[in-house]
Amino acid sequence: MSLLEKINNKRIPSHIAIIMDGNGRWAKERGLNRAHGHQEGVVAVRKIVEAAIQANVKFLTIYAFSTENWNRPDDEVDALMELMVHAIVKETPDLIKQGVRLLTIGDYERLPNKTKTALKECITQTEEGSSITLILALSYSSKWEITQAVKKMMGDIQNNQLKSEDLNEELLSDYLSTKGIPDPDLLIRTGGEKRISNFLLWQLAYAELYFTDTYWPDFREEHLYKAICNFQCRERRFGKTSEQIEKEQRDKLNNL
Ligand code: FPP
Repeated sequence: MSLLEKINNKRIPSHIAIIMDGNGRWAKERGLNRAHGHQEGVVAVRKIVEAAIQANVKFLTIYAFSTENWNRPDDEVDALMELMVHAIVKETPDLIKQGVRLLTIGDYERLPNKTKTALKECITQTEEGSSITLILALSYSSKWEITQAVKKMMGDIQNNQLKSEDLNEELLSDYLSTKGIPDPDLLIRTGGEKRISNFLLWQLAYAELYFTDTYWPDFREEHLYKAICNFQCRERRFGKTSEQIEKEQRDKLNNL
């Protein structure tokens, strides 16, 4: 029985978020430069998008470039931006074929014009995609996103478009760049570190966290399915007790 067959189709995480870490170490261990690790990282992205579609995952968010990554050496930043433009342009026909809808979150204005153009084109061409939504977090950090949301909210309060007493969690969510996207159910971080690294801090409030030592360039469908199986073994209580969750499940079954 393949790992995909072992997955319970009724408990597929609707949204998986991934921190793709370990490209640099993967390259270093092979005596290659870091850019080579990122190139292999793109191969892994392609494989994981396909695998996620197979498993019927509806949203996949990948942390492709953080706000903090702007502090890397210029040549690495340039290589990553070039690689992304190249990959987006090359992959767009396949993304369309597979029914992928591409979205981005992050500080778009900071990106080079070439990257912005490639992204805009791919987003337009894939907007009808209905098998999965692939969200590229680019020039993204959660603290940046929350700060932007607060600024916008304060502006709307000043312009009388919003009353401060109407503020609630749902409304704040609508000011984030992930508006309309369900919160991730599962966060996967590759590369052995156990950190969130300024990624989707608000949206991950109740996500299950899964850490693996596998470097991102080595991450393949069997690793994704193992993470999904692990997710399915967890009891998601959202602050309730096990007894409450069991009763809810019994009631649900009785009402079928
Ligand atoms: C972290 O590994 C990885 C990144 C900063 C870049 C990830 C980007 C890609 C895989 C390209 C994606 C492109 C598209 C178009 C989706 P690291 O360099 O921090 O690795 P290390 O911790 O081993 O040094």
